[in-house]
Amino acid sequence: MRREEIEAAKEHFGKLIEKQLERVEVMKAQGDFLDYKSLDKIVIGVCGGDGIGPAITKQAQRILEYLLKEDVSKGKVEFKVIDGLTIERRAAELKAIPDDVLAELKECHVILKGPTTTPRKGDEWPNVESANVAMRKELDLFANVRPVRIPEQGIDWTFYRENTEGGYAAGKEGVNVTEDLGIDFTIATSQGCDRIIRAAFEFAKANGKTRVTAVTKANIIKTTDGKFLDTFYEIAKDYPDIAADDWYIDIMTAKLVDEKRRKDFQVVVLPNLYGDIITDEAAEFQGGVGTAGSANIGKRYAMFEAIHGSAPRMVKEGRDIYADPCSVIRAAAMLLAHIGYVAESEKLYKALDICTITEKKLVMTGRDTGATSEEFANYIMETIENL
Ligand code: IPM
Ligand code: MG
Repeated sequence: MRREEIEAAKEHFGKLIEKQLERVEVMKAQGDFLDYKSLDKIVIGVCGGDGIGPAITKQAQRILEYLLKEDVSKGKVEFKVIDGLTIERRAAELKAIPDDVLAELKECHVILKGPTTTPRKGDEWPNVESANVAMRKELDLFANVRPVRIPEQGIDWTFYRENTEGGYAAGKEGVNVTEDLGIDFTIATSQGCDRIIRAAFEFAKANGKTRVTAVTKANIIKTTDGKFLDTFYEIAKDYPDIAADDWYIDIMTAKLVDEKRRKDFQVVVLPNLYGDIITDEAAEFQGGVGTAGSANIGKRYAMFEAIHGSAPRMVKEGRDIYADPCSVIRAAAMLLAHIGYVAESEKLYKALDICTITEKKLVMTGRDTGATSEEFANYIMETIENL
């Protein structure tokens, strides 16, 4: 009996290895990043997701249309609204992303995405994979870039979280070998480490940053984190003007609350799961995950998203029109900079600062005691008009 169980687990492991080796070949064959300047037309996908997603994403789209109106009228920019990435459809089809939705996403160059519901144990939904994680894998969006800025505290961090490997690559492919033994897999490839680490150093170089920090637990997770760390110091040699150092995830988590030391971090590059955890911690200092936007960048596609949840209760209670669209608007600002509209992006960041910090004429409360998302988007556009 036991023999059979071991053989079954070995076979499962063999298939997993084959799949990952295929991924390595795909990465090896990959060219350079898409050059948006070389395109006749940039297609921006607007994928609302579910819960409050469609309501807030629509407002971010209005702002993008306003900022890009000239190029939209010239046919240089086109918007494509993609519905159907809802938990209801995903549950009905038992798919992380329905096929037609994935095909539509692949017709775009960049995507603005609202939140999507991730089923968890014990809720009403079947256990479909997270749409976020699936989209990162399907579109090979390997760099998850999450900036956190708190100017008054001297904090200006940019996290480069690896987005396709680590514990997430085979998160749903673990095995229960016997009733008593469960095994999960965590994965690192040379190509996967190389591309995220190089992206972090390139960002540092292009933005005048003087330090890049790697975060791992390579003293314990020796093989995969070890590969990440070795690759990091190898690549650092190509950037002699940038200081490179590394921390273990436990002490890094502590250092982020050390007010004397944390200001010194600039660019931080790290494997998937550590990046997931520490970017929530970092966003909390800035005012919570609701204030952060996140960019998911690959060589062919890029996706920009709000990092908060889909708040289905707000929809049930009819309050989705009052949802705060800030995070997805911030994601839209990142999208603009990414496709080369740097001046428009800066205007939007400025307007966000004015509307949420310095002037704050409207208050969002999530209910009828505050402004609607539409009113907030109008306020942003009026502010830009008067800059
Ligand atoms: C994030 C989220 C996702 C993740 C969830 C929703 C799958 O926490 O974007 O950080 O774990 O990556
Ligand atoms: Mg997270």
